[in-house]
Formats: sequence, structure tokens, C-alpha cells
Amino acid sequence: MSLEDQLAAQRHRAYALRSPEEREVRAAAVTAVADARVAERAVHEGDQMPQFRLEAAGGVAVDTVELLRHGPLVISFYRGGWCPYCNIELRSLQRMLPDIQALGASLIAISPEVPDRTALAVKDNALTFPVLVDSGNVVARQFRLTHQIDPRVVSYQLGNGNDVAAYNGMDIAEVPLPATYVVSPDGLVRYSFVNADYTKRADPEAIVGVLRDLAAGLGAQPGAFAEATAGTRQAAFSSEQITAEVLAALSSSGGTRAGEILGAVIRHAHDLAREIRLQPRELLAAADFLRRCGEISNEARHELILLADVLGLTMVVDTEAADVAGGALESSVLGPFYREGAPWEPNGANISRGTDDGEPARIHGRVLSASGTPVSGAVLDVWGTNRHGLYENVDPSQPDYNLRGRFRSGPDGSYDLRTVKPVSYPVPSDGPVGELLRVTGRHNMRPAHVHVIASAAGYQSIVTELFTDDDPYLGSDAVFGVKPSLVVRYSRVDEPEALPAAGRSGPYWDLEYDFILTPGQASPTGFSTGRRPAA
Ligand code: BEZ
Ligand code: FE
Repeated sequence: MSLEDQLAAQRHRAYALRSPEEREVRAAAVTAVADARVAERAVHEGDQMPQFRLEAAGGVAVDTVELLRHGPLVISFYRGGWCPYCNIELRSLQRMLPDIQALGASLIAISPEVPDRTALAVKDNALTFPVLVDSGNVVARQFRLTHQIDPRVVSYQLGNGNDVAAYNGMDIAEVPLPATYVVSPDGLVRYSFVNADYTKRADPEAIVGVLRDLAAGLGAQPGAFAEATAGTRQAAFSSEQITAEVLAALSSSGGTRAGEILGAVIRHAHDLAREIRLQPRELLAAADFLRRCGEISNEARHELILLADVLGLTMVVDTEAADVAGGALESSVLGPFYREGAPWEPNGANISRGTDDGEPARIHGRVLSASGTPVSGAVLDVWGTNRHGLYENVDPSQPDYNLRGRFRSGPDGSYDLRTVKPVSYPVPSDGPVGELLRVTGRHNMRPAHVHVIASAAGYQSIVTELFTDDDPYLGSDAVFGVKPSLVVRYSRVDEPEALPAAGRSGPYWDLEYDFILTPGQASPTGFSTGRRPAA
């Protein structure tokens, strides 16, 4: 059976096994790769091949410069041993190997999978040609073949027990488009097959045909090709080759968290620059923006945290990090005004220590586990602004640690504190972040909120905020901190007979709120601001 017949049979088998929805999702994913023109942008016939050196699954290093000294080279990039089309193609290449060698050429395949997985593909397909391990798709990226598998397709693959990201030792399911190249000894690509549709593979006849033409026209003698192609224009060095070089330079940090993070930052930043065609002057403007963020920052102001906040990045990171179930306390931004070391206060204490902080409020309730068991000894670290929307650390007219305090829940999980009713206030807009907001037509207001860090031994520490329900900015928080479960209602208490029980002599706002904690490990906050000294 021809390779194409075998691929067609596999296409039919796969189609029959899939739901209409899965067929549609997979077809859309192929179309998206085609639309992104990955195949068109890859190294092609007429280009100079990027030279590389990789280890085969067995550990032997293979260098393309060395291989090309002996004659033409056939290179096949495949997606992984989990891909049935790849296995069909690898076996077809194995069958072609005697013809390839008879024409004086070598054959290698490039695998994105970790060495053990690559070795498995070699064994399962009884391959005798070198299959090289391309960790992190470094070489595939030099050939501009890489793309990320659509997340919906990844879910289907995971459902079939295939974790492609893990197979590749990466944090993302990134694979090369399957591709086949025939390269003459001068390094010039004489034939290329790259197709957005992973079920399509190079025709063996075409590969052997090119090798035959090379042998007939130019002689299979080493060196003959170089002479015949002398003067051929070298392809320009591509930005993808630079990305590959930078990633390769990081390889000694492999396995460390820093290496993982930097690798991903580089991949995404380089792809971002390509996607938006970032201009040199725009990169310099971005660098200057960051310089000015640093310059305006001080012990009481952190412009880069504010930047992460207004870009919504803080909320994405916090929400991903807090693994809480529905119904439990959810996280929100810490913000740049948290100050650790707030005074410990007994339940019932008032943290409004200024003369005109705002409308009196009482916040009370219980700290509970998801099953409703009281959590005794939980710590609630609370802070807020005064009626002018100012935190004490940036307002020398307020007492030290005004409107900040730490409370411990009692044996029945109860807590009780006095403060002032929160007001909406602007985030600082006199620096680069303010400029960013204005340029993008956004306001800089935060809806009224009180900050809380809830922590207890055996529970996840949750950094969060409680938002006042009647605030006009609830739907457009400048830092995207609002989640429905964090919106609360204060009720006005003004009946004279209710006041003494609440320790109040005048009307106040009452908020009753239970904090439901999620089991896990307590974690430190990791940031604390300072207090701006009086001028
Ligand atoms: C805050 O609520 O304290 C805050 C949060 C993010 C940015 C600016 C302020
Ligand atoms: Fe705040």
C-alpha cells in the first residue's frame, strides 16, 4: 500500500471514531494553522538550510555539516510517537532507506519528544536511521516550523491519554509541522514539503526523484554540489533563527524554574514582536516607559505593581494561583499599598485612629471551613483608605498605621472590627501608568473596597477585597479586581436601641461577612510598602 493510501486509511479510521464536534474542532485547528501561514513561512526549497547538531535517541551526536560532507541529506520533522500519521511516515522512510543510501544520501528524523519517548518511537517503528531529539523545538524553530496545538485539540489528546507538552518536556503543547527536506551538500534546500494539514506527508517518490536528479545532474560525488551551486544567494538570517539561538543559550538553565520562565518569556516576547511587527522605535519607547516606572517608584509607591494591576496581569496570576472551590473566599489584588506589621487588635477594636476618617462602619462575621466548621485563630489583616481615598502611608496627615489592623478569630470563628465605610478612589495617575490609562481611554477609579488578607494554619492564605455593592465603578475597576462573590452590602444601623450592642454611640454602616477558607498551605504576602515620611 502506498504511503498516501495508508494515510488515507488512517484519516478514515480517525474520522469514524470522532464526534461531529471533535471533527469540527480539529478541522478548525488545521484551518487556523493554515491561516497563520506557518507552512509558507517555514524554510523552503531554495533557502539555505540552518545547520545544527543534535543527539540521537541513543545519545550519539549528529552534525549536519558532517553529514553533508558525504552527500545529500533527507530530513524529516515529525510531531511525536503519539501521532499515527507520523508513525506511518517514519515506517515509510525506513522502507525507503536503501534507495536513499544507494543515491549517496543520508536520512535523519527530528523528534520534539524527550529522549525516552523518542527511543520508544525508534523501537516501535524498527527504525535504523538516526532520530534526533530536538529539546524545546530549538531546531524546528530555526526551520520556522513550530506552532502550538489548539487548546481544544489538546483536551481531546489528553482525553486519549496523550500529554504532548509532557512528552516534549515543555509547559506547552508545541510541535513542528511535519516537514520533509532534501538538502544538497552545499546546504541548499532542493526539495521541501510542509503542509498545515498534519495528515499530509511528503511523497516518497518525490524525495527519491529529487535525489536521483541530484545524482544524475550533478554527480553524487561529495563537493560536486558545492561547485555547481557556487554563487547561489544565501537566505537572509531570520528572526526565528535568532529566537532559536537565544533559547539555545538558555539551555544550561534547563530544569530550573528560572530557565522555564525565561524561556517562555523569550518565546512569547519574540512571537509578540513578530505578530505586531514591533518597530525599533517602539521597543525603545517601551524601554523608556519601564525606566520611568522605576524612576517614579519609591518606598511608598511601586509603579510596576500598578502596571501589572492595570493590565489585569495581577488578577490573572492571583486567580490562577489560588485554587479555591466555588463558595470559598476568592482572591483579588493586593495593590501597592499593603503595609505589613499592622497593629494587633482585639475583636471589637476600631482601626479608625484619625479625626475625620469617614462614615463609621462595623465589619463582623465568622471565619469558617467549607463545611462550616469555625476556624479559630485565623488572622484577618485589614486595610483601607480614609474618606479622601488615601492610605495612611501616602498621607502624612494620618496617624501611623491608621485604618490598618490585624484581628484573630475567636474559638467560634467570629471576628468583629470597626473602621470606616470604604469610598471609591483613583489609583495614582501622575506617572507612566496614568499616561497608559489616558492613551487607552480608561479612567483610573477603583470601586469602594476594604482589603483583607485571610490566613490560618492549614488553609490557603487569601489576599482579597470586599467591594461595596452600590459603587458606580463596580463594573469598571481600573485593576479588574471585582469578582461577584466579593461584592457586599453595608446596611445602615441608626435605631438608637441597636447602637450600644454594637459599641456605637451614633449611626453606622454594618457589614456581616463570613470568610470561607480553602484547605492548603499558608503563604507569605511577599510585598510590603513603606510610609512616606512627612515633608
Ligand atoms: C488598592 O486597592 O490599594 C490598589 C490596587 C491596585 C492598584 C492601585 C491600588
Ligand atoms: Fe485599595
